[in-house]
Amino acid sequence: MEVIITNEESIGQLVADDITNLLRRTPDAVLGLATGSSPLRIYDALAEGVSRGELSLARARGFTLDEYVGLPEGHPCRYRTVIDEDFTSRVDIDPAAIHAPDGNAPDLDAACLRYEEAISAAGGVDLQILGIGTDGHIAFNEPGSSLASRTRVKTLTEQTRRDNARFFDGDLDAVPMHCLTQGLGTIMQARHVVLVATGSGKAEAVHHMVEGAVSALWPATILQHHPHVTVLVDDAAASRL
Ligand code: GLP
Repeated sequence: MEVIITNEESIGQLVADDITNLLRRTPDAVLGLATGSSPLRIYDALAEGVSRGELSLARARGFTLDEYVGLPEGHPCRYRTVIDEDFTSRVDIDPAAIHAPDGNAPDLDAACLRYEEAISAAGGVDLQILGIGTDGHIAFNEPGSSLASRTRVKTLTEQTRRDNARFFDGDLDAVPMHCLTQGLGTIMQARHVVLVATGSGKAEAVHHMVEGAVSALWPATILQHHPHVTVLVDDAAASRL
């Protein structure tokens, strides 16, 4: 695990540079896309790179990590909507090449299985962007998640619902109880994992992820077993290292 401590602006550019290099080698690379505030600087830097003609995502493909259950199509907090606004609509990627778990499927378990199959059929994820929750979750793999888990339905913890209520105008009751999420085992199959975290709220989770014992109680610790992980944090998120 390589840990880089730098400022927020550089984090976005450094990851965008990694993605640019990947796409030069492999124009149809598969990107693992995270939602939330952490990856926004990366998407900004990618959008700027595309507008300057420095890179093209025209042949790239993408898979998002997770989705709330039951939010109607077009809901502003639905992760499919969020990724389209934050990323897809700002770069030259084909929207049809971006895949997301279907949180409205009549059979959610079957939708999870289909998602795993789609990732495999695409040849797996080349570069997975990750944020981290204050309780150490990655995607929506909450504490207690099996370290070998695959895409499945999960119940969100009270802590995560409170953390994410800010996206629902602060209304905790509006935050869904359930989600679909890639499992820890799914994420571990990505060839390169890039995790970004900023702010003191992430310091404890970053401390456990980098220096703690591998445990389902801090799901991100499983990344210690991954052969190629880059962690980019600012001073505040690194303050407990
Ligand atoms: C959510 C998402 C995660 C994300 C985490 C941190 O729960 N499911 O994928 O990493 O929040 O979000 P943020 O980057 O906004 O702090």
